[in-house]
Amino acid sequence: ASRALPRDGRLDATLALKRDPYGYLRSQCERLGSDAFQTRILLQRTICITGPQAAQLFYDPQRFMRKGAAPMRLQATLFGRGGVQAMDDAAHGVRKAMFMNLMTPSRIGELGDLFDETWRAAMHRWAAAPRVELYAAVREVLTRAVCRWAGVPLAEAEVPLRTKQLSALFDLAGAVGPWHWFSRYARFRAQQWCGGVIERIRAGQLAVPPDSAAYAVARHVDADGRRLDARTAAVELLNVLRPTVAVAVYIVHEALALHAFPACRAPLRDDTDGRYAGWFAQEVRRFYPFFPAAVARVRQDFDWQGWHFPKGRRVMLDLHGTNHDPRAWQEPLRFQPERFATWNDNPFSFVPQGGGNAATGHRCPGEWITLELMQRAARWLAGGMGYEVPPQDLALDMTRLPAIPKSGFMIAVHGD
Ligand code: HEM
Repeated sequence: ASRALPRDGRLDATLALKRDPYGYLRSQCERLGSDAFQTRILLQRTICITGPQAAQLFYDPQRFMRKGAAPMRLQATLFGRGGVQAMDDAAHGVRKAMFMNLMTPSRIGELGDLFDETWRAAMHRWAAAPRVELYAAVREVLTRAVCRWAGVPLAEAEVPLRTKQLSALFDLAGAVGPWHWFSRYARFRAQQWCGGVIERIRAGQLAVPPDSAAYAVARHVDADGRRLDARTAAVELLNVLRPTVAVAVYIVHEALALHAFPACRAPLRDDTDGRYAGWFAQEVRRFYPFFPAAVARVRQDFDWQGWHFPKGRRVMLDLHGTNHDPRAWQEPLRFQPERFATWNDNPFSFVPQGGGNAATGHRCPGEWITLELMQRAARWLAGGMGYEVPPQDLALDMTRLPAIPKSGFMIAVHGD
């Protein structure tokens, strides 16, 4: 017989989760002295789990599936419908390979070079203004760089609009009210845009390099032997553009870390082999809040640690809390890049972009891109670009998704 899952006493935890998206799961688990508890989120019964063992369970594809797991409001904004996130089994594997095949070291290096080139050009414009919001400025740099890299044409006059649309898909996408509706509208417009690009490639009206993301998506053949319809293709092309622009969130986190822990600046500047920059990027991804949680559904009834997980039940894994779990991390609340010098590579204790195996499971395929761009940005921020941080409230707004300071991190860039 299985034991009863501890319960969060309230009727529905949606509000508690909204108030404290990064802390709710962990604080309840601590209060209940348990790695799992049951509650309702958006009225649906949900089992919340935290920690490395829970992550190992969650990333066992035999036990969970993704079809119908994500809340509708996130499908309408963040993910889009018909994309890889909600697929399972062989169909998922074939679609996922399309993403994984884009991630060669040489292609990722090219994206890094485009990023540096774009940053350098933008820096001169930033220096001409008294103040620049780093979050907005970097989103624009990333939009320019990733569109070029992915084979998506972007006219100069279009840059502000496309930056805004791509940002609206991840920034406050889960919010309630006008922001949510703006995000839905942005998804509609962005899908029209990317669908048009795919159709022009297929019609031979737009030539793109065969190793680009736009080409891969336009030509991709699914497990059922069919090409993607234009809407699904647009969703998948946006699955490359949107999260690459979202790396701006981590770049703001890097700027915050350099401001809060200035001792990291010198080792970053003196870093000749890239090792410290690698540790720094990893520690920023561990320490700062970005994706709070991932969701799936129980495939077949099973028991875990004596608790019953019934078929169909929604399960939410605490990503942020797992990255701070004291069983896996010494002094988890300390920012310490050097901890990654001796890290054991456990794919279940460090899960900022999901855990387990990216090729066979739902772990993010974009981690190498993320790390490459973060390391390039860290070099600019640690010395490549001179800037001051004028007085402002730099506290992370922990109720905002993703969490960044309210100011977006204002800087005053030096002319050279
Ligand atoms: C999935 C985080 C960057 C493409 C995911 C997941 C997370 C995540 C938490 C879900 C894991 C799960 O469902 O179990 C992030 C963060 C990023 C980032 C914090 C930093 C900005 C990227 C980049 C790309 C990308 C740069 C592509 C260029 C995807 C795709 C999936 C995914 C396609 C779905 C994978 C699947 O369902 O099999 N990401 N990601 N992400 N990410 Fe990322």
